[in-house]
Order: sequence, then structure tokens, then C-alpha cells
Amino acid sequence: MNFLRREPHIALSDFVKNKSYKGVLILPFAIVQKKAVPLFSDFSFKEIDHLASLGDFQAKESEISFFYPMKGPFERVLLLGLGEIEKVSLETIRRVFGSLERFLASKKWFQVLVPNFHLKEIRREKLLEAFLEGFLLSSYQFSLKKEETAKEYRLTLLDFGVSKKSVEEIIVVIKSVFLARDLANGNADLVTPSYLAKTAKSFSKGNLRVSVLDKKELEKEKMGLLLAVGRGAKEEPKLILGEYIGDPKSKDLIALVGKGVTFDTGGLNLKPSGSIETQKADMSGAAAVLGALIAAKDLKLKVNLIAAIPTAENAIDSLSYKPGDVYKSFSEKTVEITNTDAEGRLILADAISYVKKKYPITRLIDLATLTGAILVTFGHEVSGMMSNDETLSKALIKAGENTFERVWPLPIYPEWRELLKSDIADISNSGGRLGSSITAALFLKEFVQDTPWAHLDIAGTAFLPKPGKYCTKGATGVGVRLLIEYLKLLQAKPKDRPKK
Ligand code: BES
Ligand code: MN
Ligand code: ZN
Repeated sequence: MNFLRREPHIALSDFVKNKSYKGVLILPFAIVQKKAVPLFSDFSFKEIDHLASLGDFQAKESEISFFYPMKGPFERVLLLGLGEIEKVSLETIRRVFGSLERFLASKKWFQVLVPNFHLKEIRREKLLEAFLEGFLLSSYQFSLKKEETAKEYRLTLLDFGVSKKSVEEIIVVIKSVFLARDLANGNADLVTPSYLAKTAKSFSKGNLRVSVLDKKELEKEKMGLLLAVGRGAKEEPKLILGEYIGDPKSKDLIALVGKGVTFDTGGLNLKPSGSIETQKADMSGAAAVLGALIAAKDLKLKVNLIAAIPTAENAIDSLSYKPGDVYKSFSEKTVEITNTDAEGRLILADAISYVKKKYPITRLIDLATLTGAILVTFGHEVSGMMSNDETLSKALIKAGENTFERVWPLPIYPEWRELLKSDIADISNSGGRLGSSITAALFLKEFVQDTPWAHLDIAGTAFLPKPGKYCTKGATGVGVRLLIEYLKLLQAKPKDRPKK
């Protein structure tokens, strides 16, 4: 069982005008003054006027009509509605092309031609990016069925006037999203700490260096919290480290830390039925960090990154770490375990202290499926953000808006810190139910200290119980596009970097 696929099933080729085309021509329309108006200029068909006069196509958002033209090179023509023109955003385009992909898949129409189309307010490159994102992200498949037909799209872009390179750059990011989804959707029995480490290592090349601390080395470094969480599992815990130096002249160094719990039973504080079933995706933060690291390298972004992925299985065994016991962290702070199901913050704490000690990092972003409470707060729509730095949190909000991987801030006032007080240790790992997304962040903050930092709780956005607009059911790969957009914004606006 190792059906993990990485490549978007897509080919980009050239269409030869006036030759017969065995496939479907996509014609986008929008509503202008209550009328369906074409957004392209090179094609006209009598059938379209007919359809419109019957009122059978109004160009509402994601509306689809199709016909078989009597004349000309095309086998099928499909009309695609984008809705009212003033309301069309990049997200509309992603959604509409996501719906289009689902429709085409249901028909098994895999040969697709999209001619250049325009929207006044949207730059050509951005339009193309949004349309490819919507289409390709929607085309992702994960299935362990005995018989499954892969969607083998041949997508042709006609006269978009963009370079091959810019299309390739879009594909780079989508591939990373697919990798992140594959890792989170894959069986927990397959995607173990050593599998994550092996996967990360396979990308180690050139200016991307991956190394792995195994259990022995974790013991030598005294990473007591990561070791504690991993104690009950047959698979040993690991700390995966990735280094990408894309801007050697700059002192700026961003740490990306991702929670890599490959299965979260809850430990001896066992999760009940109804909560445990999605916990193979408890390494979605790790997957996002790895995906972003790889994409940053492939895009040759001018940034410097340290990725740290603490990974362990939170399993039940006689060796499992125990509620009531106290463990010593890498930072030497002691932690009383009040709930073994609050394991994510433990492995993150050791990883955070480790990168802070070993590298001159200038800021830190962690991504983690950390709390069920964030699902109660934001559902599956938005990731929770807790930060000690306004520049960083503002930039992440902006990146979230641009990619529609939205994040929204929650406060981390010191009053909540009380809930983490322990009588016998420096801190306890769980503050109970009240404000639990926030107390989780305050736990991390003890280890982050003054480093500019943002914590993204992606427990709600990383895994969907049913398909979204262009996300398939299951793992979303959230975080990859967000982080890449953040890094691109930074590259474009260096003054957003910290002063030091
Ligand atoms: N992995 C879970 C959080 C989670 C819940 C992720 C639902 C995805 C979907 C995390 O390790 C956890 O168990 N958190 C506890 C913390 C509590 C014990 C303080 C929670 O939120 O219940
Ligand atoms: Mn847990
Ligand atoms: Zn967990």
C-alpha cells in the first residue's frame, strides 16, 4: 500500500490552429449588465447566441453549458460562467475552474483547450495562476481503491502570452501542495517518522541540505520532550532539519517549524471514537513546511530558511509517557504532563529551542494541527494565528488573503498563562479546555521567548470531511501556498524584514 502520487497529471502543449481538435474548448463568460459577455475574443459560434437567447446560459458563477458545434475544428465547446464581472476575484477564478475540473472529470473529458481570456482588473499572470491553481488543485486524487482511473488531463493553453517558465513556477507550488496532501492522506502505518525523514532527505541537493537527528542523537542532545512523546511507538522519533540558503548575502534567517505527529492516539489519555479517525493527518504542519521548503528552493527564492520538523508517533504502550510525570525539555525547563494528548506543543517546544540555540534565526513560523478548539472557533475556513510580532502577523494575513489560505489572529494575553501553572514543574503541558488554542500558543511562547514568531493552528484547515471548492476531501496541503506567498512578499518588500 503505497499509492502516493506526486505529479499533477497535466501536459502543456501547443494547439495548431484550424486543425481538428479532439477535446473540449473552454469559453469563459461573465455577467455585464445582466448579460452573458464573452471574456475571449478569438472565437464565435452561432450556437452561443442560440443558447443565450433561450436563457439556457446566463454566466452565473460556475455555471456550465456545452454543445457540439456543427462546423469547425472543435469536438465540444463548453461555456463557463464567472458570475457578475465586478465581483470576479482571483478566488472566484480558482473556484470556477475547480468546478470546471470536477465537471470535466465526471464526463471523462480530459483533453482541454483554454484560450486566452481577459478581465480588466486582473493581471494576466495572476489570472493564469488562479485558473491553474483552481483547476489543478481540484484535479488531485488520493485513492487506495483496487481499480482507480487516473485523470490524465492534457491541458492546452492558447495564446496566453506567458512564458513557459511562469507556468512551470505555478506547477512547482502545486506539486508541493500535492506532496503535502499525499503525506497527510497516506496511511499512518506508511507515513511514519522514518518515512518523513526519508522523503525529506530525498530532496537534499545543492543549496537545500537535509539532515536528520535520530533517537541516539536526540538523547545526546537531551531533547526530553520529543523523546517522551515518541516513547510508546515502535518507530523512533526524529528531528528533521532542512537548510535552504537562497540569499547568502543576507543575515535574515527564517525558521519554519512543523508538527510531525504521524499518528495521534492521544497517548494514555486516549482519544475517543469520533476524534481519532483523522489523526493520520496530525503531521500536516510538517508536510506544509517540507512542501514550502522544496518549492522555495525550486523557485530559487532569495530567502534563507531553516526547516525543523520534530516527528513522532503518539502511541499507547507500557513505555508510553505518563500523565503526572515530569520531563525535562531541551531548554532544561521541566514540564508536568497533565494530558498526553497535548503532545504537539511538546515536540514543537524542543524543536523551537533547538533551532534557536543552533542557528542565528531572525524569526520563526510554526504550523501545527495543535488543538481541536481551533475547529470550534474557525471551522474549516481559517487557520488561527497567535503571534508576538505585528510585522510578521500582518504579512501573514496579507499572504493569507492573496492565497485564500486565510489566517486570523487570536490574542495571547499573559493572564491565560496561569492555566499552565504546575506545582512540581516549571510548566504543565495542558491548561484544560478553556481557551485551549491560546494556552497551547502560550506554552510554545515559553520556548520561543523574544524571537519574532507566529504560530499557525491548522487543525481545522488541514483536513476536510467533505470536498471544498477546489480542495478534495481529506488533506488540503494548507500552508504551502501561504508560506510561499509570504516569502514572495518578503522578497518584494525587504523593509518588512526585521531591523536587526
Ligand atoms: N492533534 C490534536 C489536535 C487535533 C484535533 C487535530 C482535531 C486535528 C483535528 C492535538 O494533539 C490534541 O489532541 N489537542 C488537544 C489538546 C488538549 C488535550 C489540551 C485538544 O485540542 O483536544
Ligand atoms: Mn493530541
Ligand atoms: Zn496531536
